[in-house]
Amino acid sequence: MEILQSAAALQAQTEIWRQNKLRIGLVPTMGALHEGHLQLVRAAAQENDVVVVSVFVNPTQFGNAEDFRLYPRVPEADAELLGPAGCTALFLPAVEQMYPQPTVLRFDFGPLERVMEGEHRPGHFNGVATVVSKLFHLSRPHRAYFGQKDLQQVAVIRQLIADLSFDLELVAYPTIREADGLAMSSRNRRLAPADRAVAPRLYEALALGASLVEEQISTPEAVQQAVEQFLAADPAIQLEYFALADGRTLQPIIGTWTPGSVVALCLAAYVGGVRLIDNVLVTLA
Ligand code: PAF
Repeated sequence: MEILQSAAALQAQTEIWRQNKLRIGLVPTMGALHEGHLQLVRAAAQENDVVVVSVFVNPTQFGNAEDFRLYPRVPEADAELLGPAGCTALFLPAVEQMYPQPTVLRFDFGPLERVMEGEHRPGHFNGVATVVSKLFHLSRPHRAYFGQKDLQQVAVIRQLIADLSFDLELVAYPTIREADGLAMSSRNRRLAPADRAVAPRLYEALALGASLVEEQISTPEAVQQAVEQFLAADPAIQLEYFALADGRTLQPIIGTWTPGSVVALCLAAYVGGVRLIDNVLVTLA
């Protein structure tokens, strides 16, 4: 596996692959890799000739400087995991490589980013769209792989690809969970043991909500209340939001269920000061 540290090196390599008619898979990450990332890399290796994995903690998507500072960074350990998973080239740029000058361009994804993560992390999706666009330009992938744990991010990137005519296929992979249900996340490393023990409650709350949604007996408002009450019972968890949203538009579901539609149950919560997100999808009968 090659390690590329400059944007120019990645562009040059991409050019050679393209000339040789090789299919390129891109897995954008911020590192501190876990099994969820590795499944994306293995899938990319199966479906393409070469795989680029980017490891870059992108400053423009963090509203909170402390959160950016504390984000786990373990590039050597990441590199060791990537080769065996099928990565051809690890792209490991410094900030100056990705941002040789401050960006002034602004993305606006409309209603899609006025809810949930977009509402609670202003500017977050602007930073994501900026860095993902740069990664698409530098690596010119045929396919790009993202995890559905970041459901809204997947929707934003789908919009980005369509609006800017990026000629690539977005592949979204289901969330990978620990044995106790906790969604795998690089941030889980920051959980103290007592908080790690509590964190699976987030998935339990979503599972409770999902079972109520499936029955379609409770109203959306009653499901909202049941999930919020479940989480409020645990003082170690500070819920930031729980949302019942249309699985396609991510807009809130109010009043009634629509048979045949997909409902996304999404939440963000702090557990011991670490912000975690998770979601589950339910297709209504
Ligand atoms: O999901 C992530 O890890 C990041 O948001 C991404 C897509 C790599 C952009 O920095």
